[in-house]
Parts: sequence; structure tokens; C-alpha cells
Amino acid sequence: MEGARQNDIPGIDANCGGACACSTCHAYIDPAWFGALPPMDDMEEEMLSFAYEQEPGRSRLTCQLRVTDEMDGLVVTLPLRQA
Ligand code: FES
Repeated sequence: MEGARQNDIPGIDANCGGACACSTCHAYIDPAWFGALPPMDDMEEEMLSFAYEQEPGRSRLTCQLRVTDEMDGLVVTLPLRQA
């Protein structure tokens, strides 16, 4: 989420600034990568339920993902709109 905001990537609204309180940083993770990411905690899972067209097994809130070197090549797409 921070990377998208700092690089003017459209489609990540992040209205709550990363507090896991809005779901407007929703993105779809490529299925090949989804299992390689840290698991969701209860707060992210609950907030994700408010995201626009969230899909179990693909959807994450990007403010809850800390980017690491191991994520080099991660493929992420965005929903048509945020909630
Ligand atoms: S920025 Fe609000 S939930 Fe991620």
C-alpha cells in the first residue's frame, strides 16, 4: 500500500492510512503467490469482508503486507473500484 501511494499508482485509495480500518487498499494476489504470503490475521480477514468483490484465496489488504526481498516478482492486480 505504501509503495503504491509513494509511486502514484492509481487504485489504492488507502483511506485509513494503513490502519486496517477501511478495505480501500484491496488487491488480488496472483494465485501462484497467495500461499507464499504471511497469513491474514483476524482483523484483516474481518475488514476484507467489506472490500469490493473480494475473493477468498486471492484478496488481501495491501496495507497489511510488508514487502520483503522474497516477494520479488509478486503479481498483484486491483479491483475495478475500491469499496
Ligand atoms: S489502508 Fe485502510 S484497510 Fe488498508
